[in-house]
Amino acid sequence: MTPHSDAPGTGSADLPPTRCPVHTALSDGGGALVDLLGPENQKDPMGLYERLRAEHGPVAPIVLDGGIPAWLLLGYRENLEVSRTPSRFSRDSRHWHAWKDGKIGADSPLLPVVGWQPMCTFADGDEHERLRAALTESMGRFDRRGIRRHVTRFTHQLVNDICADGGAEMVTAFAQQLPMLVLTQLLGMPDEYGPRLVEATRDLMKGTETALRSDAYVTDALKGLVDRRRAEPGEDLASWLLAHPSGLTEEEVIQHLRLVLLTGNETTTNLMANTLRMVLTDPRFRASLAGGHMTLPDAIEHVLWNEPPLTVVPGRWATGDTELGGQRIKAGDMLLLGLAAGNVDPAIRPDIGAPMYGNRSHLAFSGGPHECPGQDIGRAITDTAIDTLLLRLPDLRLAVDESELTWLSSWISRHLVELPVEFMPRRPEPDIMDLPVEALLAPRQRVPSTPEETTAPARSGTEGSEAAAPGRVPWWAALWRWLLGRPSGPAPKGSSAR
Ligand code: HEM
Repeated sequence: MTPHSDAPGTGSADLPPTRCPVHTALSDGGGALVDLLGPENQKDPMGLYERLRAEHGPVAPIVLDGGIPAWLLLGYRENLEVSRTPSRFSRDSRHWHAWKDGKIGADSPLLPVVGWQPMCTFADGDEHERLRAALTESMGRFDRRGIRRHVTRFTHQLVNDICADGGAEMVTAFAQQLPMLVLTQLLGMPDEYGPRLVEATRDLMKGTETALRSDAYVTDALKGLVDRRRAEPGEDLASWLLAHPSGLTEEEVIQHLRLVLLTGNETTTNLMANTLRMVLTDPRFRASLAGGHMTLPDAIEHVLWNEPPLTVVPGRWATGDTELGGQRIKAGDMLLLGLAAGNVDPAIRPDIGAPMYGNRSHLAFSGGPHECPGQDIGRAITDTAIDTLLLRLPDLRLAVDESELTWLSSWISRHLVELPVEFMPRRPEPDIMDLPVEALLAPRQRVPSTPEETTAPARSGTEGSEAAAPGRVPWWAALWRWLLGRPSGPAPKGSSAR
């Protein structure tokens, strides 16, 4: 464990009087502390967390961007203590001494994530309540079946784009597309915004030279949406936020729509890619799913333990001098929630190989007053999308050896770079929401959809079983339609789910 500082007024008698590494780093310009934006973290973040845990215990000193000191929380309990105690650990980044000390330049890579904005993510107490109530109460108005219907429809569209090819790269073709397509619907944006917004938000998050232009595109699109919904309210998040009794200003509505779009998209994309990878690579996982002992929602919780979409959340700021995990924290210090590290803390997971199926007590959504309000939407998108995907392409399998998969880490998340898959080529299916009801009642009939299918040897018992003759409706379409509560009458494309 790291030795502690004996700074005046902060000590407790049982702590040894040595120098605190974070404050040493501050005065020495970084010293030998690990830079969370540096190469070691990019290469192997989980290995780095374990090294830090061994050296410092549950709260480790690190530096950011070459020299700005902060604390990384590695302990499960410490993560919860900090996220649940806003009186000691504020979400308001203006507490940070690095601002006062002029350490954060206008071009700092930290700025987009920690620069204070008038949003619920940076608010505490009553102000947080006001902004968050508008979000949670508005998001609570979505009916879950409606969300699932959007997901099903877009999943079928995305599968239609790839199904004739017999293979695809699923991070780009699927995981990066679907959440944004669904979120734009929930926000109240027309279909055509989806694909362009996927590009713009990815560009914006990557911080490329076109990031500012992409950011302006996203903000303009949201501003246009708010103008339209003010004139003509609909059944969507934009309209509900505008009408909420919390009385959000137009700027606040736009900023919170932007928050939902950016946070919800990136995290759900990650969760979807990680879950799909596991379904395709972990034999226990697939065997359990096929054997009916585990549901996909249970499996998603296991993924949230081992691959949380956000590995680190920056951050919290100490409102006064305090002690945590044996370290002495000073007023204005920054603390980073180490969600991935906390999830594998040996204090709560002595056997790291033990399955965590269905166990929801992980840190992936954080905790306390800022705990993710969109978690059920993220879960519903992931679960429905993968379920529908496997229904359409039951012979889906990895096209490369698992050892060839690569990852990209930033200081706050870790992404699967590519997930190449293969499957038997199939003909695209019609949009199930456009099908006449009589068609859904047509008997299921197995007819090869492509010449390859006619000659290809079957690779699994279920392979190709969902392919349908032209003009006939596959059984899954009828089933989905029934599950989604559309027993009669065709729906126009893009019609509201609610
Ligand atoms: C499954 C994927 C998701 C994961 C893993 C995730 C995770 C998180 C985490 C770790 C936080 C930070 C909490 C903190 O500061 O302590 C957060 C905040 C937030 N998330 Fe999510 N999220 C996901 C999906 C979504 C979705 C789909 C939405 C919206 C539809 C959403 C909306 C938000 C909002 C608005 C906040 C800010 C809450 C506040 O500060 O009070 N998230 N999320």
